[in-house]
Amino acid sequence: MLKISDYSVGYGQSLVISGMNLTLEKGEIAALVGRNGMGKSTLMKSLIGMIPSASGQVHVAGNNIVPMPSFQRVQSGMGFVPQGRMVFSTLTVEENIKTGLLNSRSQEIPDYIYDYFPVLKVMRKRMAGNLSGGQQQQLVMARALVGRPKLLLLDEPTEGIQPSIIKEMAKILRKIRDSEGLTILVAEQVLSFVLDVADKIIVIEKGNIVHQQARAEVNEQQIASYLSV
Ligand SMILES: Nc1ncnc2c1ncn2[C@@H]1O[C@H](COP(=O)(O)OP(=O)(O)OP(=O)(O)O)[C@@H](O)[C@H]1O
Ligand SMILES: [Mg+2]
Repeated sequence: MLKISDYSVGYGQSLVISGMNLTLEKGEIAALVGRNGMGKSTLMKSLIGMIPSASGQVHVAGNNIVPMPSFQRVQSGMGFVPQGRMVFSTLTVEENIKTGLLNSRSQEIPDYIYDYFPVLKVMRKRMAGNLSGGQQQQLVMARALVGRPKLLLLDEPTEGIQPSIIKEMAKILRKIRDSEGLTILVAEQVLSFVLDVADKIIVIEKGNIVHQQARAEVNEQQIASYLSV
């Protein structure tokens, strides 16, 4: 579903991601783990087309997406939830979700969205800016999912969220993967969440993959050591 080959991304002359290779199978949930400043967001933003890549190839479901502008990447099945929960705070919950439908034929929010995130149904007429952090995170996930992506990129969804909600979020993501066959790449630093959600763990340091392992085979302490400063 996702094949990244010899891929480099940088700002100006300095490369942040250099020569990365990474493959995700359909329906796989992969956690991209790494400390602050290691290049997680840079990779995510370049994959969705917000920042240009320097070299290499990215195929999504067999299509080379590198020449595509962002909107075309979204049309071809990619969804992106950026770091920092950017909701439109003066729009309602419902209006926020509908912005994810702009490219779709139907302008109605399908029921399954509220089945995954019941709290959003209760709050659908409220201003998004008045929601709690955890509720806003669910809102931005709903907004990305309503366009029925095949590949979802999530950038640090647990940032600033309490442990019980983090646990719930892992459950919801696995449920969505199970029923929609979605492939997910999630950048994370919260180890408990990574262990709950991922099938595969990929550790990134200074823009290079330094470790990659199936969840079942992972040594938790080793992953923890990559995250400690
Ligand atoms: N717009 C920019 N211009 C120049 N350098 C940048 C820019 N954005 C990020 N960087 C640099 O690129 C490197 C990787 O940053 P990035 O945001 O990708 O890290 P991250 O892994 O997402 O970190 P965090 O966990 O803190 O979100 C850092 O050294 C950062 O300073
Ligand atoms: Mg980041």
